[in-house]
Amino acid sequence: MPAYRIAPSLLSADFARLGEEVTAVIAAGADWIHFDVMDNHYVPNLTIGPLVCEAIRPLTKAPIDVHLMVKPVDRIIPDFAKAGADIISFHPEASEHIDRTIGLIHEHGCKAGLVFNPGTPLDYLDHVLHRLDLVLIMSVNPGFGGQKFIAHALVKLAEVRRRIEQSGREIVLEVDGGVKADNIAEIARAGADTFVAGSAIFGAKDYKATIAAMRAAIKAV
Ligand code: DX5
Ligand code: ZN
Repeated sequence: MPAYRIAPSLLSADFARLGEEVTAVIAAGADWIHFDVMDNHYVPNLTIGPLVCEAIRPLTKAPIDVHLMVKPVDRIIPDFAKAGADIISFHPEASEHIDRTIGLIHEHGCKAGLVFNPGTPLDYLDHVLHRLDLVLIMSVNPGFGGQKFIAHALVKLAEVRRRIEQSGREIVLEVDGGVKADNIAEIARAGADTFVAGSAIFGAKDYKATIAAMRAAIKAV
């Protein structure tokens, strides 16, 4: 039985009160903080960087799960490691040398994740899965919160779960985009163990009740 984790995405938090929002979701039972980094180049939106990561780092012991949607990706990795990131994930399309980027993340003391857009084939896993700590399946096209869950992600999650089991290694299988209390059970059934949710949590009045509803739905699987 894998450990399940809920990772609220700060993208949908109130940025005028970001510190309070981090403290509030952790108090509400979140396991990780998902930190979306967008560069207005790899994706058509611009968000937050290492300075903000460094600013929220002292607020929680929970892992900060940095999702880099930036190209090129390598030069920002040391900055995020210094800013206190625990996990750094990147998109294969944003790296010239995927194996080198994984090595760079590890050299800087962080766990490494590879992210798959809805249209990105899983073949990229063939020769690097044995070096990864996490695989992130996007269930929306990256760039914005509040989009609809793309059901085909379930097929990809099941395939990655199979590959992880075959590898015999402990690798986190994370899903990101359109995750809500009412679809999280089928996503868990497909094989995900770590659930990013932005609008579903920060758009709710009661963070604790929302996270509890997600956990209850997963438990019932
Ligand atoms: C999208 C980001 C997601 C986003 C998820 O590019 O990577 O983390 O914040 O937001 P929701 O949960 O609202 O789809
Ligand atoms: Zn994300």
